[in-house]
Amino acid sequence: MGKGFYISKAVGIVGIVLCAGALATIIALSVVYSQEKAKNNNQVLPTDGGLTTKPTVTPAPTSTPSSELWDKYRLPKSLVPLNYYVTLRPHLTPDPTTKLYIFEGESTVEFECVEDTDLIIIHSHKLNYSDSEKTLGVRLTPVNDAVNVPTIKSAWLQPVTQYLVVQLNGKLTSGNRYQLSTKFTGELADDLGGFYRSEYKEDGVTKIVATTQMQPTDARKAFPCFDEPAMKAVFYITLIHDHGTIALSNAEEKESTNVTIAGQDLRMTVFEPTKKMSTYLLAFIVCDFDFISNTTDQLLIRIFARKSAIAADQGEYALNKTGPILKFFEKYYNSSYPLPKSDQIALPDFNAGAMENWGLITYRETALLYDEAYSSSSNKERIATIIAHELAHMWFGNLVTLRWWNDLWLNEGFASYVEYLGAHEAEPDWNVKDLIVLSDVHRVFAIDALASSHPLTSNEDDIQKPAQISELFDAISYSKGASVLRMLSDFLTEDVFTMGLQTYLAEFAFGNAVYTDLWNHLQTAVIASKTDLPDTVHNIMNTWVLQMGFPVVTIDTTTGVISQKHFLLDPNSEITTPSPFNYEWIVPIRWMKTGKTQDLQWLKDKSATIDAMKASADWVLANLDVVGYYRVNYDEGNWDRLLSVQSTNHELIPVINRAQLVDDAFNLARAQIISTVLALNTTKYLIREREYMPWQSTLNNLDFFYLMFDRTEVYGPMQDYLRKQVTPLFDYYKTMTDNWSKVPDKHMDQYNQVNAISLACRTGLEECQTLATTWFEQWRTTNINPIHPNLRSTIYCNAIAAGGAVEWDFAWSQFLNATIAIEADKLRSALACTKQPWLLNRYLEYTLNPTLIRKQDATSTIVYIANNVVGQPLAWDFVRARWSYIFTEYGGGSFSFSNLINGVTKRFSTQFELDQLEQFKADNADVGFGSGTMAVEQSIERTIGNIKWIEKNKENVLNWFLDEAKP
Ligand SMILES: *[C@@H]1O[C@H](CO)[C@@H](O)[C@H](O)[C@H]1NC(C)=O
Ligand SMILES: *[C@@H]1O[C@H](CO)[C@@H](O)[C@H](O)[C@H]1NC(C)=O
Ligand SMILES: *[C@@H]1O[C@H](CO)[C@@H](O)[C@H](O)[C@H]1NC(C)=O
Ligand SMILES: *[C@@H]1O[C@H](CO)[C@@H](O)[C@H](O)[C@H]1NC(C)=O
Ligand SMILES: [Zn+2]
Repeated sequence: MGKGFYISKAVGIVGIVLCAGALATIIALSVVYSQEKAKNNNQVLPTDGGLTTKPTVTPAPTSTPSSELWDKYRLPKSLVPLNYYVTLRPHLTPDPTTKLYIFEGESTVEFECVEDTDLIIIHSHKLNYSDSEKTLGVRLTPVNDAVNVPTIKSAWLQPVTQYLVVQLNGKLTSGNRYQLSTKFTGELADDLGGFYRSEYKEDGVTKIVATTQMQPTDARKAFPCFDEPAMKAVFYITLIHDHGTIALSNAEEKESTNVTIAGQDLRMTVFEPTKKMSTYLLAFIVCDFDFISNTTDQLLIRIFARKSAIAADQGEYALNKTGPILKFFEKYYNSSYPLPKSDQIALPDFNAGAMENWGLITYRETALLYDEAYSSSSNKERIATIIAHELAHMWFGNLVTLRWWNDLWLNEGFASYVEYLGAHEAEPDWNVKDLIVLSDVHRVFAIDALASSHPLTSNEDDIQKPAQISELFDAISYSKGASVLRMLSDFLTEDVFTMGLQTYLAEFAFGNAVYTDLWNHLQTAVIASKTDLPDTVHNIMNTWVLQMGFPVVTIDTTTGVISQKHFLLDPNSEITTPSPFNYEWIVPIRWMKTGKTQDLQWLKDKSATIDAMKASADWVLANLDVVGYYRVNYDEGNWDRLLSVQSTNHELIPVINRAQLVDDAFNLARAQIISTVLALNTTKYLIREREYMPWQSTLNNLDFFYLMFDRTEVYGPMQDYLRKQVTPLFDYYKTMTDNWSKVPDKHMDQYNQVNAISLACRTGLEECQTLATTWFEQWRTTNINPIHPNLRSTIYCNAIAAGGAVEWDFAWSQFLNATIAIEADKLRSALACTKQPWLLNRYLEYTLNPTLIRKQDATSTIVYIANNVVGQPLAWDFVRARWSYIFTEYGGGSFSFSNLINGVTKRFSTQFELDQLEQFKADNADVGFGSGTMAVEQSIERTIGNIKWIEKNKENVLNWFLDEAKP
């Protein structure tokens, strides 16, 4: 699945006014935290309200619950599915009496019995069967007439474990095949899971799309199935739908004909059988969308979207890039694309960023549709990288699937790494590969440095319930997974890495594997290529995947001693998770000495002496291009020399490492390893820096300073200092763009131009504010938008912040009328920038009205408002006052609650706020916090940490800014 995190990632690039970098961290923090706590307490949160309902039909035979097979969350191994024949009919109009949208279905699964059993246990969730019979209308037939089939004794539902259970009067026997047929209905709800509906307006008409999101455990919500990734089978899908709509699924259409059902004229679309595949990769869609297509080497590529979006050519960019990216992966994997077609579709309501359904990938509109008139360069980059991510899964994940969800990190980490390689292929001029350092490595460092982090791997037995599976979709799986695989590919070399990868895919095609299978293939490639490593791939990688966290490597250039230590953001935190390696890693060290690249070194023990690293006049810089998953600290003398070269000749330091020096320094300071003043000193050279990555890295780190100080006396001097630093950058881009009339040529310059304007306006540079208000006013009065899409987020935000109700209402009307989600999103975040409390309060009210703000966007909008220093207390009061309503109405999405709680409390840094938070927790103990439970705990911990940090650092920081702000 494309990460929900993608959203924060993209916003992080454009929205420093909103502190999005910090937000991303906090969001991710909360997810990790909740997972860890849930594990420790053996406590699992329900994913929805349906788990507690009683069986509606025959009650299960009474006996000790845990001993029965149907009370276990994993399927028994007695039955293996081979083929499914599924017919579904979604109704795109509500039932006149119940007012509910429903779908009807019929399904037959053919399976083989591999162990004798008198029980059929198959997943089924929220599906209704005919309740008049004690067998639920289920039928069992032989595949081969010669086989005896026992009769059905009873059939019932187990809502907790989400099963349909069929008890037989005799045994199914090993080696024989049977067919189980069912007829059922389900609700086509707007819950973004299983078979669900999405609504949108086109030409004033409300339209309905029936679509699916199965991963991880919701295929069972569409039809009864053995819903585990290793239970691969072939699917014969048929969809029945209204005239005027199209039907799509994983496989290509076989035929579409007119049928009459119960007097109704309908269409029936039959699909070719799929390849052998996992249930979580299925997709069924009925809609009235249009598409554009192209054929590359006989492969049909289609992009589907709303008719008006296709008419506006918004699918063209995706279509242009899909072919080349597929070609790239065919070469990278040495394996031709496994399917005869590749469909991609943009949906108005979609929870994750995108989903890699095999042959029919689903996206949020913002992740697939590009419009030159509305999309910024970061929107475009997001599209290219998400497409690459999902296409990478067509092999890694879909062709070869991890056996169970505990290995999810390998699936998602891998796709999150190679998405940069695929996007680079699509846009070779962008240097997009460098950005993994900001978007993944730095981002996950922030989370993995907490005592509450967790290792990449988990035991298969520890991951059982749907909620436990959902929790695995976190930043550790995606971003740490990507980071350590990038490191592995680097020290093996890309040739050796792909050699192992290719043989792995060849061996397990159409089957399942575990992560160590990949290590085996890589080790074979290491031996075949005679690559020199200090240990086996298994042993090196075990130190990175079996223990949480990462080291800080300290290089003492006075002695040449290098050493490693588990890096913890809070040095007082207690580690309760034991590590098999005692928190030591096998660390590959790429490094340079006074600008000259040196040979790769390995640190295998707690410490070692490397004579070449001894230096008194030379400067040593380690972790070149941040290929390694660790931070670096130096002796004071080397820090001085690095800061000196940074301030006199910064181009001698590679650009990624310029970003790293700032990020390492700020984080080492947070961990009390170096002084906060040294960290602040790393930002002084920025007055001469023009590159994007160091600036972005600085802004990400300054977010924390803004959060802690924007309500204190530090704020004024901090603004003065930053305004002084950013003014030359602002002027640089003003010149480059001919007084803001042109777009910079280079992708990274386009990004940094946004930073220059955002920070200049934020720190009150008058010329910048005038620019923002003038452009916005021109738009408002002429209705012709003069603002380039790259600059819209920041210009909208600053103009709305400077303006009043007139500006706000204009932007709101533009939001309501926006025909492309990318533009609507920019406005939705900018609307939160106003400084008028009454407008913010009104906006808060809008967030809970789904006709104004889509449900999928409600919590992020509240968080945007909380990012605004004026909106923060309003959002907090709003959430506190309406907690039980929000909890019941918006409880579905698994990430959104923790985002919400962390978002509205992240500025908390006083005892008074801490008391409020404790009170909130006590007041709502009976309602509960759902997936936000652990975020409450974490917010309390974070607030305590913030109080301490401010106590310790405020005076130093104030004095430093006062000194440095002087002209
Ligand atoms: C199918 O039904 C539609 C709508 O009633 C009609 O326009 C079309 O001609 C029919 N097609 C065939 C092949 O009968
Ligand atoms: C897609 O490719 C065509 C042909 O190369 C080109 O003219 C067009 O501008 C491209 N569209 C986009 C949105 O990149
Ligand atoms: C369609 O595919 C052909 C062959 O790969 C390619 O040359 C052409 O540019 C593609 N057109 C679009 C619009 O992507
Ligand atoms: C920070 O910079 C100031 C001014 O250049 C210098 O006096 C001070 O020693 C530096 N502090 C540290 C810890 O590097
Ligand atoms: Zn993915």
